[in-house]
Amino acid sequence: MADGPDKLQVVADFDRTLSKYTHRGQICATCHNVLEEGGILPDFYKEKALKLREKYFSIETDPEMTIEQKTPYMIEWWTKAHELLNTCHITKEAVQKMVASSTAKLRDGCDWLFDECHRASIPLLIFSAGVGDVIEEIIHQQSTLYDNMHIVSNYMDFDKEGKMVGFKNDIIHIFNKNENVIHQSDYFENLKDRVNIILIGDSLGDLHMADGAEHMENKLKIGFLNTKVDESLELYKRKFDIVIVQDESLDLINAVIRKVV
Ligand code: TMP
Repeated sequence: MADGPDKLQVVADFDRTLSKYTHRGQICATCHNVLEEGGILPDFYKEKALKLREKYFSIETDPEMTIEQKTPYMIEWWTKAHELLNTCHITKEAVQKMVASSTAKLRDGCDWLFDECHRASIPLLIFSAGVGDVIEEIIHQQSTLYDNMHIVSNYMDFDKEGKMVGFKNDIIHIFNKNENVIHQSDYFENLKDRVNIILIGDSLGDLHMADGAEHMENKLKIGFLNTKVDESLELYKRKFDIVIVQDESLDLINAVIRKVV
């Protein structure tokens, strides 16, 4: 708080962190769900995407396996999911329509957070293993994507006719969100004077999203615990500085930022 906005940067996960887990009690879509439930892609897409999740999600969350053991499976999941999406010849227009009709929702208070970070020139990094085009579209439709906001995610590549022809960058999966991807860029290096970081996430993997910020002095880790509260609360309380349980808003984060700006 004493250092003020000039020393601050914010790093946030997207799905179920900036976006809601539930809206008035109903579960909301993640950016992958937007594509599966959009009603535009061929039926086989949803079927195969769900089969992939069935197989690999249990590996992602297997408490018996180490990250090293899980990583090859995650690479396999993202590779297969991207190949599958690539067979659908999705267009930018289809992404806009699917987002518009989806249940994906930014948390209450996102507008304030985005407006205020922009007004106070606080950089906001959105780090997601989801699909960047969908994230951008959700923000465009429901709020404002400002130039102080930077999204690191999987971005689709489109041909001249606007049809998808692949993905632009190397896969960003759940366990490489932290190191490789951002280390290859000078993002944190350029922000080395911003030694105070507010880190927001909903999974324990998100705790590493700002590992590339080597000059950091203070990191306030705020975690959303959306599900399995009884089983995970103690662990989340040990790992995060603040744990927000089953809330649909960014009120607490905004209250912290209000004290800084
Ligand atoms: P993140 O929201 O923390 O960045 O993680 C992305 C989540 O997306 C992770 O739990 C796995 C999930 N996922 C899908 O639901 N469908 C997919 O096709 C892929 C590749 C990942």
